[in-house]
Amino acid sequence: MNPSDHPGGAGITRRDIHFSQTGIPRYWFAGDVHRTRLFDALSLFFPEGERFFIESLRHYRERIAGDHRLDAEVRAFIGQEALHAREHRAYNARLEDQGVNAAGLEAEALSNLNLARDKASPAQQLAMTLCLEHFTAMLANEVLGNPKLFANADPEMARMWRWHAMEETEHKAVAFDVFERVFGRSWRPYVLRSWIMLSVSFYFTTHVWSTIIRLVRRDGRGGDWRGWLRLLGFMFVAPGPFRRVFPAWLAWFKPGFHPWQHDNRQLLEQLRREYAA
Ligand SMILES: [Fe+2]
Ligand SMILES: [Fe+2]
Repeated sequence: MNPSDHPGGAGITRRDIHFSQTGIPRYWFAGDVHRTRLFDALSLFFPEGERFFIESLRHYRERIAGDHRLDAEVRAFIGQEALHAREHRAYNARLEDQGVNAAGLEAEALSNLNLARDKASPAQQLAMTLCLEHFTAMLANEVLGNPKLFANADPEMARMWRWHAMEETEHKAVAFDVFERVFGRSWRPYVLRSWIMLSVSFYFTTHVWSTIIRLVRRDGRGGDWRGWLRLLGFMFVAPGPFRRVFPAWLAWFKPGFHPWQHDNRQLLEQLRREYAA
């Protein structure tokens, strides 16, 4: 799909919302340790992850300068990700206050990303960004499509995650379009984004799981197998967001893939109206 005629572009809106971290219960997801720590683990990755995404796109800003629409989208992307990072930093500071080793876990995410900065070329770093953006877009679609996902969660936390999911959907194709604009659509960029997707999937899954395990152990609930089963049930059975995203993950490996081939604008519109109000 040509970046100029895909549906997402024009609607990338930067919404400067502060979410309150005051009075958020330690186990804000239905009082459940394990499910709370799944989302907390994701949050601990975001501030540094989003900074990495911004940098990897900025590197190619000059190469797309002639394309005003795409350049405006990149600007909007940066604006949104910077605000996400700010809000997740506040979220993670609240975790630290609640006795979680948030600073240590954020530093670990940073050192992994610094390794990528040292060892990977700018093209590979951009490819990592598009793969992780595909991950966030897949999970965001689950949040958008299932209003009950956060039914028993703290309402402010639910509002924050839904805001993040909405904006991830709005800008889901920006990094991809930059990549295609710079590298074209030949077999070389296809092979690059495919093998990067395999390694990023492995890295991201192990990183998130190892973070969840350490968070839960620190809560003294590492041996609570019922809690682990509840988490696995939530992730893979009902509502099962991590099972449901599998076809979207596979779709990445189609040579002609584009993020807006999965057109979820209708879901997006509902949420946009909610946040506009
Ligand atoms: Fe984000
Ligand atoms: Fe994003």
